[in-house]
Amino acid sequence: MELSYRPRRLRRTPALRAMVREHQLSAADFIYPLFVHEGASNEPIAAMPGCRRWSLEGLVEEVGRAWDLGIRCVVLFPKVADGLKSEDGAECFNEHGLIPRAIRRLKDTHPGMAIMTDVALDPYSCDGHDGIVSAEGVVLNDETVAILCRQAVVQARAGADLIGPSDMMDGRVGAIREALDEEGFEHVGIISYTAKYSSAYYGPFREALDSAPRASSGKPIPGDKSTYQMDPANSRESILEAQLDESEGADILMVKPGLAYLDIIYRLRHQSEQPIAAYNVSGEYAMVKAAAERGWIDEKAVVLETLLCFKRAGADLILSYHACDAARWLREG
Ligand code: PBG
Repeated sequence: MELSYRPRRLRRTPALRAMVREHQLSAADFIYPLFVHEGASNEPIAAMPGCRRWSLEGLVEEVGRAWDLGIRCVVLFPKVADGLKSEDGAECFNEHGLIPRAIRRLKDTHPGMAIMTDVALDPYSCDGHDGIVSAEGVVLNDETVAILCRQAVVQARAGADLIGPSDMMDGRVGAIREALDEEGFEHVGIISYTAKYSSAYYGPFREALDSAPRASSGKPIPGDKSTYQMDPANSRESILEAQLDESEGADILMVKPGLAYLDIIYRLRHQSEQPIAAYNVSGEYAMVKAAAERGWIDEKAVVLETLLCFKRAGADLILSYHACDAARWLREG
C-alpha cells in the first residue's frame, strides 16, 4: 500500500512509544484512603480484600509504608461505634474523637504527609445519612451545613491540610470556607466532592464503616441518598456544581465515582482551570479484586491501566484503594 502516514511507525519500539506517550502515572498523583477504628487490632474488610479498619497504631504503620512508596496524601474515614452515633451526628465535632486523634498522631509521626479529611455526617449518624434527617424523613440542608462547619474546624485544628466535604449539601463549600477563615485556618484547603453521584458503587465502603442508611428510630428514613447526591443520568448538572464550588472557594474539584464517570472528569477538566480529582471508589476496587482472585484478569495490568485512564480523561489526582500497590508496581517498572 502507498500510505503517506503510518501511525504504527511511532508504536514500533518501547523507546519510540515512551517518547510520544501523553500521560504518566506517578505515586505523587495518589491520595490513599484509609479506614480507622477504636479497636486494638487491624480488621479485614470482607468486600475490600487488602483493606483494613486500622487501629491507631496500625494506621501509623500503614502511613509509614505509604510514605516509603512515595505517596504524599492520605484521606481518613472513621468507623464509629454505634453508641456514639446520634441523629445530629454531634460526635463529628468532638475535639477528642477518633479522627482528630488520628490526625494529631499522624502529624507527630509523619509530619510531611498531607492529610485530607471527609466532612459528612454518615459515619456519625444513627440514620446513616450525610445530613440530619427530619421527623418527616427529609435530609435538612442548612441545619446540616452548620454542623459540617464545626466538623471542618475541628479537623483543621487537629492539623488537617485538606478538608473534603462529601455530603453534597448546597452551599457547604462557601460556609466551610468562611468558618475555616474565621478560625484562622485560611491556609487549609478544600477538596470538594463536586460531582458526587448517587451510586451503587459505594456499597463496600458502607460495609466498611457500617454507615448505610437505616431506620433506627420511628421516623421514615430515605433508603438512598438521591435527594442530595446527583442523578447518574445527568451530565450538565456537574457543570453547575463545579461553577458553584469554584465560586464558593473550592481549591480542588472531585468527580465520584470515577470509572463510569470519565466523561464527567473530561467535562470538568475543560470547564475549570483548578485541579481535578477522581475517586476510584470501593465498588470499582471490589470488582477488580474479585475478578483477580478468580484469575480472570491480570490485577497489576488492569489497575495501572485504569489509573492511567483517569489521567487521560483529565484527572490530576486519583483517590484509590490501589494506591500502595500501584506505587509499588510503578517503582518495580
Ligand atoms: C460519605 C462517603 C461515601 C464515600 C466517601 N465518603 C459513601 C456515601 O456517600 O454513601 C464512598 C467512597 C467509596 O465508595 O469508596 N459521605
